[in-house]
Amino acid sequence: MGLKMKKPRHLPLPNNKKDRLAEIMRVDHAGEYGAKRIYEGQLNITRGGALHKEIKDMYEQELTHLKYFETQLAQKRIRPTILQPLWHALGYALGAATALCGEKSAMACTVAVEDVIEEHYQSQIDELSNSNEDSELKEKIKQFRDEELEHRDRGIANKAQETFGYKTLYNIVQTATKTAILLSKKI
Ligand SMILES: [Fe+2]
Ligand SMILES: [Fe+2]
Repeated sequence: MGLKMKKPRHLPLPNNKKDRLAEIMRVDHAGEYGAKRIYEGQLNITRGGALHKEIKDMYEQELTHLKYFETQLAQKRIRPTILQPLWHALGYALGAATALCGEKSAMACTVAVEDVIEEHYQSQIDELSNSNEDSELKEKIKQFRDEELEHRDRGIANKAQETFGYKTLYNIVQTATKTAILLSKKI
């Protein structure tokens, strides 16, 4: 009986791998969706402001990221996170709230989010490199990771760190982003 329960070590894990790839795409789709909503909130509030164009540029890149994962989910019949309506509302609220505090604080929000996303994407790149899996997905994530880093740098260039209460805001946004990632992986 004990023998029966023991699984051969070389057992291929197509299902597990498939599940893991689905998890990666689900959480990345959720993240890019959240990013789109954050920028929509910021764009609405900063209309006519000096950094509106800057935010619009980043927004457009997020739309490209989102589109990729949307297509992947549809093609591979992966369900999106059931929390999407929550990210719809909370993403927008976070974007609008930070922009209401001023353009620097809108930039601080970007810096905090992108710092988390950069780490998140990097760990997926490492994982996909180790398993030699799905190199197209890996290349896309690399490209997106680079663009998220660019967003972070643009935030810093636009004086994000001069925001009043920067460290506090940064920590709150980071914790929120990390929590959203954790939840979107599984739910
Ligand atoms: Fe993105
Ligand atoms: Fe981004």
